[in-house]
Amino acid sequence: MQTMEKIILDCDPGHDDAAAIILAAKSPKLQLLGITVVAGNQTLENTLRNALNVVQWLDVDVPVYAGCGQPIVREKVIAGDIHGKTGLDGPVFPPLMRKAQPEHAVNFIIRRLLDSDGDITMVTTGPMTNLAMALRMEPKIAEKIKRIVLMGGAYANGNVTPAAEFNIFADPEAAHICFTAGRPITMIGLDVTRKVLCYPEIVQRMEKVGNRVSALFVSLMGHFCKTQKEIFGWDGGPLHDPVTIASLIDPELVTTKPMNAQIDIRGGQSYGRTNCDFFNYLRLPPTADVAIDIDPARFWDVFEEGLRNYN
Ligand code: BDR
Ligand code: CA
Repeated sequence: MQTMEKIILDCDPGHDDAAAIILAAKSPKLQLLGITVVAGNQTLENTLRNALNVVQWLDVDVPVYAGCGQPIVREKVIAGDIHGKTGLDGPVFPPLMRKAQPEHAVNFIIRRLLDSDGDITMVTTGPMTNLAMALRMEPKIAEKIKRIVLMGGAYANGNVTPAAEFNIFADPEAAHICFTAGRPITMIGLDVTRKVLCYPEIVQRMEKVGNRVSALFVSLMGHFCKTQKEIFGWDGGPLHDPVTIASLIDPELVTTKPMNAQIDIRGGQSYGRTNCDFFNYLRLPPTADVAIDIDPARFWDVFEEGLRNYN
């Protein structure tokens, strides 16, 4: 039997983070050891409550840990325009009974990695603050990380500034720490996640799965796609975060290219940009596998199967 890939999902739910949790929590290919939460799309108070609401809705036994409420150096930024006042506007959740674990997310990451055989993949779908803090608090964890897979960055255009993508912009110094940790890192940026557009016909297709998790997905997309339409004029919202999880479930889904990738932490116009040397102008060693293409139809097949896992 194929062994399940062990992962920790560090996130800031967030509609697309919620979709990543949906895909990760019940996949027969993945063992979700814990969900660690960070401030990003909204304040930590909001993103933590959202993660707990989603886990409770899914009825899965996955521990949730609260992490850092602010970035390491820069002032806090949130994405209230996209994800709303709560960070997960749209669905109405029943009263919340689930509680976060008493341990801080950074301590959980350190403990779990040190206790491991080096077989845990760290997936981040928010600002990379928690993982960066863990790396600084206990540098010995670096050699224990099997691989980092992140949603963040872009080798082309940003989405909060012309240069920067939100997750990196919201904590560039944290991303710099993670990108220079010397571990295999796969950057799944806007260049591919913007190809995964959740058009109305996709929402209808997922609705037909007809279980309570597909119903949650439909109500999440109701809000998410509406704001994407208002802000960007797009008919389908780009479902960024679950591409990380889908790429672990189906390793052929995303095409990557090794590149030298460096985070701009100098401030100024390009603060938070992921400078990826696509054409290898600099002749520097590659530091990241950067996603350059995806088959969106195949992604939606993986996602639909993910919803059916809850039947
Ligand atoms: C990223 O920013 C957040 O708003 C989303 O949840 C995603 O992680 C896309 O830039
Ligand atoms: Ca996110």
